[in-house]
Amino acid sequence: GPKFPQVVVLVGATGDLSRRKLLPGLFHLCSAGFIPACRIVGVSLDDLDAAAFRRLAREAVDLFFVRPVDEAAFAAFAEMLDYVPLSGGAPALKDAVERAEAAIGAESRRLHYLSVPPAAALPVVRLLGEADLVARSRIIMEKPFGTDLESARLLNRKLHEVFPEDQIFRIDHFLGKEPAQNILAFRFANGLFEPIWNRNFIDHVQIDVPETLGLGQRGAFYEATGAYRDMVVTHLFQILGFMAMEPPTSLEPLPISEEKNKVFRSMVPIEPRDVVRGQYNGYRAEEGVDPESDTETFIALKCAIDNWRWAGVPFFLRTGKRLAEGQRIISIAFREPPKSMFPVGSGVGAQGPDHLTFDLADATKMSLSFYGKRPGPGMRLDKLSLQFAMRDTGMLGEVLEAYERLILDAMRGDHTLFTTADGIERLWEVSTPLLEAPPPVRLYEPGSWGPKSIHQLVAPHAWRLPF
Ligand code: BG6
Repeated sequence: GPKFPQVVVLVGATGDLSRRKLLPGLFHLCSAGFIPACRIVGVSLDDLDAAAFRRLAREAVDLFFVRPVDEAAFAAFAEMLDYVPLSGGAPALKDAVERAEAAIGAESRRLHYLSVPPAAALPVVRLLGEADLVARSRIIMEKPFGTDLESARLLNRKLHEVFPEDQIFRIDHFLGKEPAQNILAFRFANGLFEPIWNRNFIDHVQIDVPETLGLGQRGAFYEATGAYRDMVVTHLFQILGFMAMEPPTSLEPLPISEEKNKVFRSMVPIEPRDVVRGQYNGYRAEEGVDPESDTETFIALKCAIDNWRWAGVPFFLRTGKRLAEGQRIISIAFREPPKSMFPVGSGVGAQGPDHLTFDLADATKMSLSFYGKRPGPGMRLDKLSLQFAMRDTGMLGEVLEAYERLILDAMRGDHTLFTTADGIERLWEVSTPLLEAPPPVRLYEPGSWGPKSIHQLVAPHAWRLPF
């Protein structure tokens, strides 16, 4: 954890992310002793006082904290919480932060967490400047960072007028997931896989993140954002970066982001014909949604990385709301052997190609599936697999939730698992053809796997899910 006491200014403190992840995460970090001393100043448009904010935090912990809640620990945490409404402006905010600092000592550092939609990011940055809360501070910017190339550039420019780059942490919580970091360990700590990690052995890659979840309370945010900006240009592309990058010269922040950004530079801009946009039946009746909305709640696409390692290897990405299953998998399909001596009907190839699959759940799983012989007479083949499950190791309790991990890293000033201005701007640039001419949304039924045309998108391959 960080060496110094921390004042966290949590902007968007009453929002969905704050309740689901940030407040429960901060509760865990504080009560498990990761942070030497802490105060949290909640800020949002809502007109609350500290007592009401503490109640909100309690509800959030009751609903979303995954460990048993220790009453004494929660009482201590509640003491750390204060609240100021945005309507108080810079003076009220400055006051509250100074009070918090007085409580935990002059050595303390500040962490501003902007859990706000893209359109609110700049005004909040300006407010922090006005309140003179820049020194000894770091700032976490939630995704999506901007809504297109132009707005991301503007946001970066304006942000730099207030905060220097080394104080800025653009968060993408998928990079804080244990299994995402495990991709780096898996690839670069072993001699076994890296030699085959290229177009000579890999046929195609899928990054598939269907969700059963709907919009919850986030109708207005989601309506303005859609699945592409919410998930693809952010989480899915960042994961793609880890999968596709060259070995970095070291595990330091700069070499890692350089290699990831090289992948992004090699990505071919996304053409609308390679994209299926979907909207679940019933979406238009949700609260906060336009009755004629064209926002996609589902997206599947094919993208290409035009470099020596990946030329000709399609990457298929899919994600959406209200789908049949909640999964987060990356699956790598290997090429078929050059010649098969197994007779037709033996079962060879019948269950798809050999696969390496990563499950990005906290309880990480990895599996390698391949053909082997079915017991009995003759030569009949079946798909077998080698599996690793974090659950079986007894170490699952040590897994830090993604946001917890990243909050700690930002407090320590470690940029390794954060995204860069350049990288994000390049991803918006890659997205431009799609954002300028999005194909029409196709309806799908809640509980399905998306619009029918997703199968054409991957043909002659098939979606790996459902298993
Ligand atoms: C968030 C998106 O960034 O990620 C949500 O805004 C999505 O729409 C969520 O549900 C998924 O994250 P996780 O960690 O639950 O896979």
